[in-house]
Amino acid sequence: MAKTKTAIVIGVGALNGLGASIARRLAREGLHVLLAGRSAGRLEGIAAAIANEGGSAEAVVADATDELAVANLFATAKLRGALELAVFNAGNNTPGRIAEMEASYFEASWRTGCFGGFLFAREAARQMLPAGGTLIFTGASASLRGRAGFGAFNAAKGALRLLAQALAKECGPEGLHVAHVIIDGGIDGEVLRKRLPEMVERLGKDRLIDLDGLAAAYWFLHQQPRRAWTFELDLRTKDEAW
Ligand SMILES: NC(=O)c1ccc[n+]([C@@H]2O[C@H](COP(=O)([O-])OP(=O)(O)OC[C@H]3O[C@@H](n4cnc5c(N)ncnc54)[C@H](OP(=O)(O)O)[C@@H]3O)[C@@H](O)[C@H]2O)c1
Repeated sequence: MAKTKTAIVIGVGALNGLGASIARRLAREGLHVLLAGRSAGRLEGIAAAIANEGGSAEAVVADATDELAVANLFATAKLRGALELAVFNAGNNTPGRIAEMEASYFEASWRTGCFGGFLFAREAARQMLPAGGTLIFTGASASLRGRAGFGAFNAAKGALRLLAQALAKECGPEGLHVAHVIIDGGIDGEVLRKRLPEMVERLGKDRLIDLDGLAAAYWFLHQQPRRAWTFELDLRTKDEAW
């Protein structure tokens, strides 16, 4: 009997957020999706929304920085079927000037944005090889250049990108498609609407990146044949100055 095709998305919180949008798209494509994040209630709400749309998903509470929790997440996925896609989406913006920053703040930013990516990638590689599969990391403009007021976030995202690149070279030949997505600009979702409503107001809908468009890009990466793999994809609105 064919095993259920399974995906994991870690860094799922808001229903109107990137993690949830990717998960909804994967469920629409027929994958059973494990939704991982730290808030059971929010994850269950997203699993219910996916079920309402005719898809299959389950909530798994897991902090990306917790080695055991990440290992348990992958062990649960193994029980469900054949893991073919894993997405590391955790790591929200951590602004602040370096000279005034607490060491613990910098470390927490790095733990979520980079160390968590390592824990996730290691388990994904162990589970998806030798059969093969896709592992996608969410990046940002912060992954490519340092900017005043964003040193902690830049350090985490930049290191995550290089981790992804090293892994792509290490495990690509064995059949693991590793990709990194640069999201260049604000996403039209709950995080910005809650944290920076004035920015959302100022930019307007046309200058915020569309969640469905982003989710479609993740699915596109997963669909690529082995002889035409993308490592890095960047996405922005037509009006972004870059
Ligand atoms: N929003 C933007 O404008 C923007 C722009 C460029 C790039 N990005 C990138 O997009 C990704 C986030 O997407 P989003 O902003 O739309 O928000 P999102 O999908 O809601 O994803 C972030 C969720 O991850 C969860 N999370 C945070 N730390 C975690 C941890 N240690 N372990 C497990 N889960 C954790 C949080 O939910 P809980 O607190 O409930 O766990 C949070 O809501 C991030 O990688 C971010 O850098 C965002």
